[in-house]
Amino acid sequence: MGINKKTLAITLFFQLLSSVACFSRSDFTSTFLFGTATSSYQIEGAYLEGNKSLSNWDVFTHLPGKIKDGRTGDIADDHYHRYMEDISLMHSLGVNSYRFSMSWSRILPRGRFGDVNPVGIKFYNRIIDSLLIKGIQPFVTLNHFDVPQELEDRYGSWLSPQIREDFGHLAEVCFKEFGDRVKFWTTFNEPNLFVKFSYAFGKYPPGRCSEPYANCTTGDSEVEPYIAAHNIILSHATAVDIYRKNYQVKQGGSIGIVITSKWYEPLTNSTADCLATQRALSFEGPWILDPILLGDYPSEMHEVLGSRLPIFTYEEKKLLLNKLDFIGINHYSTNYVMDCMLSSCDLDGYMRDALIATTGYKDGVLIGEPTALPTYYAVPYGIEKMVRYIMERYNNVPMYITENGYAQGSSGAFTKELINDTERIKFMHSYLTFLSAAISQGADVRGYFSWSLLDNFEWAFGYTVRFGLFHVDYKTQRRTPKLSAKWYKKFLSGKKLQL
Ligand code: NOJ
Repeated sequence: MGINKKTLAITLFFQLLSSVACFSRSDFTSTFLFGTATSSYQIEGAYLEGNKSLSNWDVFTHLPGKIKDGRTGDIADDHYHRYMEDISLMHSLGVNSYRFSMSWSRILPRGRFGDVNPVGIKFYNRIIDSLLIKGIQPFVTLNHFDVPQELEDRYGSWLSPQIREDFGHLAEVCFKEFGDRVKFWTTFNEPNLFVKFSYAFGKYPPGRCSEPYANCTTGDSEVEPYIAAHNIILSHATAVDIYRKNYQVKQGGSIGIVITSKWYEPLTNSTADCLATQRALSFEGPWILDPILLGDYPSEMHEVLGSRLPIFTYEEKKLLLNKLDFIGINHYSTNYVMDCMLSSCDLDGYMRDALIATTGYKDGVLIGEPTALPTYYAVPYGIEKMVRYIMERYNNVPMYITENGYAQGSSGAFTKELINDTERIKFMHSYLTFLSAAISQGADVRGYFSWSLLDNFEWAFGYTVRFGLFHVDYKTQRRTPKLSAKWYKKFLSGKKLQL
């Protein structure tokens, strides 16, 4: 594609957007949660401190060749020692909520095979109390990918139904210890994504996969992601059941689950591409949400996967039904979809099982702005369409945008460009504008969390990608506000903003 055509398309797009883009905090209700998000492994560090055991991520990142820059989360943002400073940073932004996850290995280093770790409980108590003193609501994720390695070694973690008992135990300990102050819980972060990276592509621990993925013969990419997701969905229902029976009434909180989904547009208006687009969407959030809200996996998944998709028993379906109070949506990108079921084409890596291919280009023009993550394109209207899709499919169950953010590439050097992140400001401004449009059409969205408070460990990409509102210099651990942090603060203070 000619660069001029691309630049022209982007300029026209933002010109169009700016004509409707004057908005402010008061376009959202005063109870709307505005926050930032992080996760334990990505920021805490201190991987051997406070009686913590090794998690599956600690072990995996120490294996050669697994992480792009060869680095680990051993230190990460050293948040374990700097949490007070980090809470002050978020307070300086004016947020009223903070989404973070608890490290299972800090709370129950040996899962249900050992004791609760008082040092871990104390750490999270201090975080929760410090947040509340500053008027920031904790929004807690019980599992954001990291699992005690012992559960992996003993029975293969998510591949075994035994994980239900362990996850239920973790959830119960957390509700008991923290539920008097935590009013927003989510069980899992992005199970629909992490099971593929863990059990189909071999890119996340335990690194299992089979052909055609990356010379890997340890697992079965065709089946294991679906077994793992099945056990996760049942673990979620087990935790919610415990919460509803023993804690919810007394503590007065709510509980949900977080899925991630791109928005998908058909590449052409052929019936095949339109059906493939429906398939692409069903293979993301509905994979996890349909069994909980509609009673079974999506019909497209049954049709394409057949016996590769596990079956819920009658009792399990009963346990699952309506076991959530809200849906968390992580949304970053919109992509075009091509059918590969009726037509011949090169199957997509990420959406291979759904028999589709995805692309960012149509007739040589990019769908939106590229970001530092390959195949992630900034297409602000995608968030409005995504929210409306979830609203219509699930009868407007309350929703939170639990993550939305912009990836910057980084060689590690401190540069002015990293701090002057005007692209991220455009991204947040325009995504929030389209989110507010969805809300004015009736969508019950109750919060928005920017990913992320800080630059941090981006899983298989290591530290080569930065999502933070605050820049982190990993040599000194110095935090520096980027322009986007200043912009978010201005927005949260109620100023009218124009793109
Ligand atoms: C989703 C994940 O929840 C988070 O851990 C990750 O860093 C961001 N997306 C950015 O890729």
